[in-house]
Amino acid sequence: MLIRLNINHNSLSIDCRPDEPLSAVLRRLGFLSVKCGCAKGLCGACTIFMRERSVPSCLIPVSAVRDAEIVTLEHFMQTEDYLDIVSAFRKTGIELCGFCNAGKIFAAHEIIESGSPREKNTIMERLRTFSCSCTEDEPLVHAITLAAEIRRQRLGSIKYGR
Ligand code: FES
Ligand code: FES
Repeated sequence: MLIRLNINHNSLSIDCRPDEPLSAVLRRLGFLSVKCGCAKGLCGACTIFMRERSVPSCLIPVSAVRDAEIVTLEHFMQTEDYLDIVSAFRKTGIELCGFCNAGKIFAAHEIIESGSPREKNTIMERLRTFSCSCTEDEPLVHAITLAAEIRRQRLGSIKYGR
């Protein structure tokens, strides 16, 4: 059946089964930042950003997202929000292999946008939702805190807690 999706600010009609995982549909459309991993919501390789959350697209049937704006890493990489995060990751020596980088980057974005980057436990809790063999929690917490500070300075607002 034809399903209309909003992906990266483009409206597309997709011929697919309603129960097909969103991750499979996105890959078929060429959004290869969405990777095939565990297919159980555990590894973060298929992460997208939707409804203010980083979410595993392997767990979402495509019919459930008709009215949502889906953002993939391809699009997010063109934003200044992304540059804040990669800049902080570089400065703190975080290196991602590319397997679950969408998961890490969108989790960082979600944490920063939630306004709680100074609360270490909140960050740790969010990061533990999926495993990653490239990074450890402590350096990531440091990197995300720095990314939040970089964003705060760029935006010049009190949005992030000052
Ligand atoms: S493939 Fe979706 S979380 Fe692992
Ligand atoms: S970035 Fe997570 S396993 Fe490499």
